[in-house]
Amino acid sequence: MRVVLLGTAAGGGFPQWNCACALCTSDAPPRTQDCVAVSADGKNWYLLNASPDIRAQILATPALRAGPGPREIPLRGVLLTDAELDHSLGLLLLREAGGLPVWAPDAVLRALSDQFPARSIIDGYGGWDWLPASGIALDGLRVSVLPVSDKRPKYARSSTEDGPWVVAYRIEDLQTGGVFVYAPCLKSWPDGFDEFTGGASLVLLDGTFFAPDEMSGATRAKVGDGAQLAMGHLPITGSLAKIRPGPRWAYTHLNNTNPVVDPASPEHAAVLDGGASVPGDGTEFKL
Ligand code: MLT
Ligand code: MN
Ligand code: ZN
Repeated sequence: MRVVLLGTAAGGGFPQWNCACALCTSDAPPRTQDCVAVSADGKNWYLLNASPDIRAQILATPALRAGPGPREIPLRGVLLTDAELDHSLGLLLLREAGGLPVWAPDAVLRALSDQFPARSIIDGYGGWDWLPASGIALDGLRVSVLPVSDKRPKYARSSTEDGPWVVAYRIEDLQTGGVFVYAPCLKSWPDGFDEFTGGASLVLLDGTFFAPDEMSGATRAKVGDGAQLAMGHLPITGSLAKIRPGPRWAYTHLNNTNPVVDPASPEHAAVLDGGASVPGDGTEFKL
């Protein structure tokens, strides 16, 4: 299985377009918004989430570009972990695909019908399939799903919809036995996550924040601890303590406040010391 990290930043990207903090004005390498492409055979590709940067991400990735026929594309479908805008806005940018399956938790499918009506907009362009995140069948890949939290997007705050709102995916290559776990949004270390990541070759974790007080401390952004907590992201200091030998562990969905975006920072070094990594955009893994 090929796993390509198309983007590795949280919503807004890095540098964040509306931020002039010390990190955003530093020389730390830029990152586009979190999105991953996977393929068992290098020909049929599936997206994990659809970032607002998807057009540039596809054009930057030779395997995802159109061809060999004049209007053929290698994209075969999209799996959503949640309904956040940084993970779903890209669906609108793929509307010319004219017919892709999208798998997502039920609450996410309904949010995309009602509160952020991407589904009805795209259906105006024709033929997409909106499918529950169960019994997912991809070319050469077996997928299992773990509900990980009920964190709903801000735009869906008034929704009475029951969760789960957020899931993680475990994707196994039936031929090589390689296993990739994608969990870019974790509120806590979820029940069953040790088993879910058991025997995995690569686990990509929520790296939004390094520390629990980051938004009020490190960058002096004018938001309180409550705001960061409400964003529902387990900080790296919490998850790093939980990882164990076996899989390769890596972080994605890095917020612009997260000091690990600077490869020279002590926090970046602490992640490496803890047995994980912070790969950049375009990194490819073969599992
Ligand atoms: C998140 O991951 O917490 C959201 O994407 C935040 C946002 O709305 O940008
Ligand atoms: Mn996000
Ligand atoms: Zn910033």
